[in-house]
Amino acid sequence: MSTKKELRIGLIGTGFMGRTHSNGYNRVPNFFPQLQYNPVLQAVCSRNEANVRAFADQWGYKSVETDWRAVIARDDIDAVDICTPNDTHAEIAIAAAEAGKMILCEKPLARNLTEAQSMVDAVEKAGVANTVWYNYRRVPAVTLAKQIIDSGKLGKIFHYRANFLQDWTINANVPQGGTGTWRMDVEAAGSGVTGDLLAHCIDTAMWLNGGITDVSAVTETFVKERMHQLTGKMQPVGIDDACIFHCHFENGSLGLFESTRYARGHKALYTFEINGENASIRWDLHDLNRLEYFDYADEGIVRGWRSIHVTDGDQPYMGKWWVPGLSIGYEHTFVHQVADFLKSLETGEPCQPTFRDSLETQKVCEAVIESAKTRSWKDTNVEWNAAVSVG
Ligand SMILES: NC(=O)c1ccc[n+]([C@@H]2O[C@H](COP(=O)([O-])OP(=O)(O)OC[C@H]3O[C@@H](n4cnc5c(N)ncnc54)[C@H](O)[C@@H]3O)[C@@H](O)[C@H]2O)c1
Repeated sequence: MSTKKELRIGLIGTGFMGRTHSNGYNRVPNFFPQLQYNPVLQAVCSRNEANVRAFADQWGYKSVETDWRAVIARDDIDAVDICTPNDTHAEIAIAAAEAGKMILCEKPLARNLTEAQSMVDAVEKAGVANTVWYNYRRVPAVTLAKQIIDSGKLGKIFHYRANFLQDWTINANVPQGGTGTWRMDVEAAGSGVTGDLLAHCIDTAMWLNGGITDVSAVTETFVKERMHQLTGKMQPVGIDDACIFHCHFENGSLGLFESTRYARGHKALYTFEINGENASIRWDLHDLNRLEYFDYADEGIVRGWRSIHVTDGDQPYMGKWWVPGLSIGYEHTFVHQVADFLKSLETGEPCQPTFRDSLETQKVCEAVIESAKTRSWKDTNVEWNAAVSVG
């Protein structure tokens, strides 16, 4: 008989993220056996009954619902996991908080700052545990980058640059709205690449390098009208197809960020590079187990970029997996976030990023969109808590 406590999950949304999270809940007991909590797949919700039943069978959920309100009303659910499009996050999260449920919410926290603030207010008023799935923090190589930066090895940091490049919307016949292409509809998504892709880059950047104080941005919508799947009509496109911004960080360094869905040849290229006075670091999602590191203190004749394969047992999270030298992948970042959330219930320490941390990312996204609209520099008013822990 297990002595573990149960965390009964109610998962809402059975698309891409519904799958990654379900895999995370299923894998954690095998690879993080020392945790006191076990996730229990209590209920899953999606609007189509046949689809949600098939999903429940595939991933092992005990029951199904077709209205998210029913999940929140249930006494046998401890935590609500929001894996639905951005326009639903605020309503579901606020109702879940009012019902006293813990909440794990997908990113971006919301479509805009007003929604995000109301979500932070709701979870803080209710005093419920909460986290946002900015999962790239939990790539072992990225967590190692955080440890290296926090140890001071880079010295004063001068530059932070990040890209997130895709190419799936170049064709003007890709529709907007509805299943599959809600990201193209500003009503559902809030923004385009800024909230969808740059939000990840901004979360990682502030985690690694501290708060972003002000931004100057340019955005472009290359295809101005697309057919809307829900109305069947050609409608103006309200999202940003591409966004480039530069910024200042609180520590005096400069940031340069670019994201687009029009970079032919790139499916999901997330890269960042940080240059300090003593050393530099760079990382690439396509080679996610590798961290590149340049140390000026190395002897001149052998000085160069080191390629660190982050798969050793003493590197972040890797002691939980296979043997040194063997890789893990994208899906493991979600396993790590589940494990860190369960650990946070044991320790009482919040699982980062919390809703409040993610509000700061939302502030930067909002300032970026506003800056592009007004063609002017915008302050972010970020209040970044640098005392964040490493997973
Ligand atoms: N952390 C990451 O790297 C990452 C990656 C992709 C998506 N996301 C975020 O995850 C969220 C979902 O994205 P996705 O790619 O999984 O989308 P998706 O389109 O693949 O899935 C969305 C799911 O939500 C369901 N849904 C929509 N409205 C609903 C409602 N009112 N009630 C119940 N179910 C509803 C849909 O039926 C579908 O199952 C978004 O906020 C997105 O930004 C995060």
